[in-house]
Amino acid sequence: MNIVIFGGTGDLATRKLLPALFRHHKASRLPAEVNIIGIGSRPLSNNEYHEFVKEKLIEHLKESEFSSNKIDLFLECLNYSKIDFNNLKEFEVLNKYNLNKSRSLFYLAVSPSFYTKISENLNSLGSINNDSVIVVEKPIGDDLNTSVQINQSLASYFDEEQIFRIDHYLGKEAVQNLLALRFGNILFEKIWSNVAIDHIQITTAETLGLERRGSYYDQVGAIKDMLQNHMLQILCLVSMEPPTSINSESIRDEKLKVLRALKPLSSNEISKNCVIGQYKDGAINGETKIGYEKEEGVVENSKTETFVSLKLMIDNWRWSGVPFFLRTGKRMTQKKSEIVVEFKEIPHNIFDSAQNQKNNQLIIQLQPEESIKLNIMIKKPTASGFKLQELPLDLFFDEYYEDQYLDAYERLLLDAIERKSSLFMRRDEVELSWQFIDQLINAIEEAELKLEKYNAGSWGPSSSDVLIANHGSKWNNDE
Ligand code: BG6
Repeated sequence: MNIVIFGGTGDLATRKLLPALFRHHKASRLPAEVNIIGIGSRPLSNNEYHEFVKEKLIEHLKESEFSSNKIDLFLECLNYSKIDFNNLKEFEVLNKYNLNKSRSLFYLAVSPSFYTKISENLNSLGSINNDSVIVVEKPIGDDLNTSVQINQSLASYFDEEQIFRIDHYLGKEAVQNLLALRFGNILFEKIWSNVAIDHIQITTAETLGLERRGSYYDQVGAIKDMLQNHMLQILCLVSMEPPTSINSESIRDEKLKVLRALKPLSSNEISKNCVIGQYKDGAINGETKIGYEKEEGVVENSKTETFVSLKLMIDNWRWSGVPFFLRTGKRMTQKKSEIVVEFKEIPHNIFDSAQNQKNNQLIIQLQPEESIKLNIMIKKPTASGFKLQELPLDLFFDEYYEDQYLDAYERLLLDAIERKSSLFMRRDEVELSWQFIDQLINAIEEAELKLEKYNAGSWGPSSSDVLIANHGSKWNNDE
């Protein structure tokens, strides 16, 4: 099998893909006689590429994973070709690999503006056959129109079953655990609706800023960078109906129904339901951080949002009346991605009314640690009387599965090699997400929603707290 990585010297390939392939190779998880071909625009010999990749592996692998001998064995499967993606003639260097006669995975770790040209040139060369698959990274488009264009051009050369659109959040173990929690247990599914749930919060907060991606990020912003893909995908998995099977199209069918039921926000109601922000100077863990406008690659007076929080409603029987609060931001006080399911108040309090009765909460943390916590009320041991106290039932996955986790890219690469597509986004999902995002951005622009500044190292603009306080709740900002 051939794994052809376009963008073989780029950041994604060296930080994520090659380390993932190395780990699979070391664990003998790759097909026998795998041939990995890095493609880039730099004129490098195979030896020079090997040196380059070795350095990057040393940089990105944990010390415990590092083994010079294993790296050398891995490098034996690795080749390099320099290709200008726009030049069909240069693609002819691939002829020596007989791509047309074997199984190939083409990984496009390059800007989406090259997706069409690369596919077209591979097709002209006769390198695509029924056994080929293509893996593409987000962003698939910049809006619905451009996303349709990209999808259409991919569809000219590959069938939908051959196209793997990556959302790396779907490769995270804890995101998949959400499926296990919901559909592997009778416990939650029966109360997973407006019958018992008051609201759901989804947070993906980062302490990182732009990390030399300023000129890209400034064109995109938090809504397109995080909400359009990762956040909406999590929302779908949390709220979808039970699929008929884990291995079929049915998960993707169910996610699609959620996207269809998502109530669009109009410009009249946007200010009550959405907050956008941009970080200014501040500090995280005592370290000073510059404001967004001073970051490299950001234009003067940029209006790009680095934070967004929203109240969304899903228009169906299960979720009628249950708000979903979503927030994501850069340069926040801590890195954490989590889902908080807050249950309703007990219908009748049999205890002393002065008791501090709290609603049950199920907290599914995706990062930095993977854990599931159920906050319940228990009786506090006291000499007399009956005092209630909230305590957590905790499940920290690390305690059970230390070091057994695959990184999201490791998992997704293997699934793509094995042509398992349930953790990848189907064309209709991507396009419906963009439709929702286009409407949201139009509403923000029409209403001229204010871009609020927040300190680096905070939880975002205070209006985001008001957004959820209007529902009588607050964000879970616990560590
Ligand atoms: C990427 C975004 O998709 O996800 C980045 O483009 C963001 O801006 C990253 O930093 C976050 O991923 P993770 O896995 O670190 O939460």
